[in-house]
Amino acid sequence: MKLLTLTILGVVSAWPIQKRADRLVYWLLAGDSTTAPNGGWGDAYLGTTVAAGSSGHNYGHSGATTASFRAGGDWAKVIKDIGTNKDESDVWVTIQFGHNDQKTTSGVTLDQYKTNLKNFATEAKTAGATPVLVTPLTRRTFSGKPAKVVENLAEQRNATIAVANTNSFGYIDLNIASENYVNAIGQTAADKYNLADGDRTHLNPWGGVVFARIVSDLLVAKFPQLDSVTKKNETLSALIAAGKPA
Ligand SMILES: *[C@@H]1O[C@H](CO)[C@@H](O)[C@H](O)[C@H]1NC(C)=O
Ligand SMILES: *[C@@H]1O[C@H](CO)[C@@H](O)[C@H](O)[C@H]1NC(C)=O
Repeated sequence: MKLLTLTILGVVSAWPIQKRADRLVYWLLAGDSTTAPNGGWGDAYLGTTVAAGSSGHNYGHSGATTASFRAGGDWAKVIKDIGTNKDESDVWVTIQFGHNDQKTTSGVTLDQYKTNLKNFATEAKTAGATPVLVTPLTRRTFSGKPAKVVENLAEQRNATIAVANTNSFGYIDLNIASENYVNAIGQTAADKYNLADGDRTHLNPWGGVVFARIVSDLLVAKFPQLDSVTKKNETLSALIAAGKPA
């Protein structure tokens, strides 16, 4: 009986320690222009989906490949910030590339792309963060009859998932989720998210909010521990889940 009481007390007193698993999160967003300020989902992610207390920094860089992001010094800043923030917060790093790597002029082969992603995630983990590989946001150009979104990042999507699976890194499939959503709402509704007329790659501020919510919903679904550090918008999440324009 005494033992049982002690056990119960042990469980009760362990509770506050357990709660500390819900630590604040510091987000570091690594990627190209589809993550970056002014055209990507990153700023809206930090601004509209991250609960009070948690925060982060958007290191998305317009035009970046997995090679230039390192060569230009952005990746070193991500690693430095992991060190600065990991005592106070759980640091999570999203890693999303592909739009520029895939260009024939990039000088980055598909194999190098995979190696670079693997190195980013490995180094983030070693530095004390949780890396999440993110498959590239879809472009929003339709073709064919019936019109469907052109899947021109499928190789990069598959390569990103292969890197995650081979090395046991977490990932979210933003490519398929964004493709499904854009297919569901159609070209006219999808064009409302364009940064400029006819720019079907980059997002205007509201497009950023919508696709950041897709990112957030995917993250929370995959990593339930993020639920308590996420600011919800059930209305927006429901529209996205139903494939309705938001
Ligand atoms: C990507 O993987 C899917 C299976 O998940 C496959 O159906 C598709 O053909 C692959 N695409 C490319 C371009 O490799
Ligand atoms: C939540 O989403 C709805 C539907 O898209 C939108 O109208 C509203 O402004 C959003 N609320 C906030 C606080 O962003």
